[in-house]
Order: sequence, then C-alpha cells, then structure tokens
Amino acid sequence: MPIEFRSGYSNAPCQDEAGEGESNDSLPVFYSKESFSMSNIQAVVVDPTASGRLALREVNSPTPLPNEAIVRVAAISLNRGEVRRSTTAEAGWQPGWDLAGTIETVAADGSGPSQGTRVVGFVRSGGWGELVAVPTNAIAQLPESVSFAQASTLPVAGLTAYHVLKQGGLLLGKSVLVTGASGGVGHFAIQLARLSGAKVAAHIRTPDYEALVKAAGAQAVVLGEDLPLESEHAPYDLVAESVGGKTLSAALGSVAQDGVVVSFGTSGGNEVTFNAQRFYGVSNGARLYALMLFHELKHESASVGLQRLLNLVAAEQLKPHIALEAPWTQVADVAQQLLDRKFVGKAVLHVG
Ligand SMILES: NC(=O)c1ccc[n+]([C@@H]2O[C@H](COP(=O)([O-])OP(=O)(O)OC[C@H]3O[C@@H](n4cnc5c(N)ncnc54)[C@H](OP(=O)(O)O)[C@@H]3O)[C@@H](O)[C@H]2O)c1
Repeated sequence: MPIEFRSGYSNAPCQDEAGEGESNDSLPVFYSKESFSMSNIQAVVVDPTASGRLALREVNSPTPLPNEAIVRVAAISLNRGEVRRSTTAEAGWQPGWDLAGTIETVAADGSGPSQGTRVVGFVRSGGWGELVAVPTNAIAQLPESVSFAQASTLPVAGLTAYHVLKQGGLLLGKSVLVTGASGGVGHFAIQLARLSGAKVAAHIRTPDYEALVKAAGAQAVVLGEDLPLESEHAPYDLVAESVGGKTLSAALGSVAQDGVVVSFGTSGGNEVTFNAQRFYGVSNGARLYALMLFHELKHESASVGLQRLLNLVAAEQLKPHIALEAPWTQVADVAQQLLDRKFVGKAVLHVG
C-alpha cells in the first residue's frame, strides 16, 4: 500500500525569507518499497516523523514543462532560508534550490544544453532529488574545470551576492560594507565586491572569522556583535545587509550620501528601529533597497548570473568556500548543523 502523505501537502502560494513565491510543483506522492517503479525517484522531503524532519523518500519522477530540462543531480547545497522553512513546513514539502548535475533529458522546446552536458541549476523548490525538472533559463553550463560541488554552491548564495552588488552600480573605488560576512552570501559578496574594484569592509561578530573574510578580499574588518554606528571605514556607498535588527539600524546610519543599503536577510532579527533624522539629514539621497532573489530573477534570468559566476570560478577569481561535504543521506544532520552555525561556509551534499 502507498504511504499516504497527500493530505498534509498544500499547493497554496508560499512566501519565505528567500523570496519563494508560488510553486508549480505537482503533488508529491510517497510510496512504500513494494510499490516502487521506474517512475519513482529518491528525493529529500519533509517528514515530521523523521529525526530532523528531513529524509530521503520515494516520490514521483518529475514531469517537465516544455521549457524544462531534466537534470540528473550529482550535488546539492543547503541555504539557511530553505532549511529554516523545512523546520515548520507541511509533510511532503520538497525543499531544494541549488543543484548541479548532468542533463538527462533535453527540454521539449529545444532550449537549453544538450544531453550529457554538465550544468548547475536553480529551482523554486524540490531541487534535492535524483532527477529534477529545471527551467532552461535557470541552467548554466559548467566549464570543464568547475566541479559539481563548487557549482552547487552558486545558485542562491552566489546569485544573491551578485544581485545585491548590482544595486550599487559601478563599484570601482567605492566603499562597500558586507554584514553577515562569514555567511554563505557574505563570503561571495566580499569576493565579488573586490573583483568590482571596491574597498571592502566585512562585519563579523567573532574574531575567529577574521582570517576567512580577509582571505576572501576584505581590506577592513569591523568586529562586534553589533555594527558600530561610528567607524573609521564608514560611510559606505553600499551595504550588503543580511543580519537585520540593530545591524540594519546601524547600517542606515552609516550609508554615504546617494548610497544604498540592500536589505536581504534578517539572520539576527526582524524588527528594526533607526534614526530617521540621521538617515535623511546626513545620508542625503541614500536609499534602502529590499532584495528578494526571486524578484531580481524576473528582470534577469538566473542563467545569466550563473554563467558569469561559473566563469569566475573557472578563472579562479571566485572561490566557493565549501566547509562540509557529505552524502545526501545525512541531510537532516547537516541541516541542523547549518541552523546552529556549526560550520562556516557552504555545505554540499553528494547525491546517489
Ligand atoms: N532575500 C533573499 O532573496 C535571500 C537570499 C539568500 C539569503 N537570504 C538570507 O540572507 C541571510 C544570509 O544568508 P546566508 O546563506 O549567508 O546565511 P548563513 O550562511 O547561515 O550566514 C549567516 C550569517 O549571519 C551572521 N549572523 C549574525 N547574527 C546572526 C544570528 N543571530 N543568527 C545567525 N546568524 C547570524 C552569521 O555570523 P556567524 O558566522 O558569526 O554565525 C553569518 O555571517 C539569511 O538570513 C538568509 O535567509 C535571503
């Protein structure tokens, strides 16, 4: 008899902190071993009865839309947003944004890479499966020297850093502050800001990570649980801000005239109070930009940024910091370690 997981699943629009919008996923159905057939695959799903709520289960093979290719997944990486959501998501929800693998079936409309091409891909959910349907405008081809593991770190963390920095326009000679600099996005943002010719300061809350952010390219380190309002490195033309709370408040007091604070995360707190008089009175012309990756990708498809990031990795100008690699059977344990900040850098899981 099939295991009944259907009832807990909702196909209703959902929104979480990484900007996930409406899902087009078909209803997942989980089967017992006895009913397994060639049309089933293994995937990571939310199972409230499993330790850590994440487990490998058999689900239906994906049915691609005409503009989607089927990717046989080799490596996935985890992000804070999807892991946090899986702690409360309904039974049957399939997390997973970042994946890398090989094109198994070319898109029916003929778009995208040919069969057997090594690719990285980005989906709105359900990317942590053996086979995944990926829109071809969210796929990029791997240069020969880039591994599946390296590529899998790029979709959410790399693309978010890339789109945050785009908000600053030409960064040559400008001053950039990256908060949450020891995080997955922060580490990419430091490197990309340096590659753009900016002067980069990194805000971290523990001295343990000073060497890490300096190695990524930060010329200055701002240390402390809270971001100080006054700093020798301020004001900043662009603040890449992912901590929220008091940190966002201080960032709004540290932005240069005509500068921008790009708010894209609230790892440290959702609620913010700030000195509005200082903001408009001192930082004339500055703005606060609310960044959701999925919104940015409406204006430029993911494949564009992914290809740029891959080329930088191939040229060894951009170095993903992979802190942990493990088989995907350990997904629940690795997800918990990520939530607890037990490692610094990206976690990559190998599929199969
Ligand atoms: N809007 C979007 O589209 C979008 C896209 C991607 C990510 N995000 C969000 O952006 C944030 C950063 O993402 P990420 O992948 O870089 O996360 P991550 O790898 O988990 O890194 C979190 C960073 O925030 C710092 N931090 C400061 N206060 C913290 C606190 N109270 N709890 C946890 N971390 C704290 C951490 O410092 P330590 O190293 O000292 O722990 C670390 O530098 C997350 O909130 C994520 O959900 C949003």
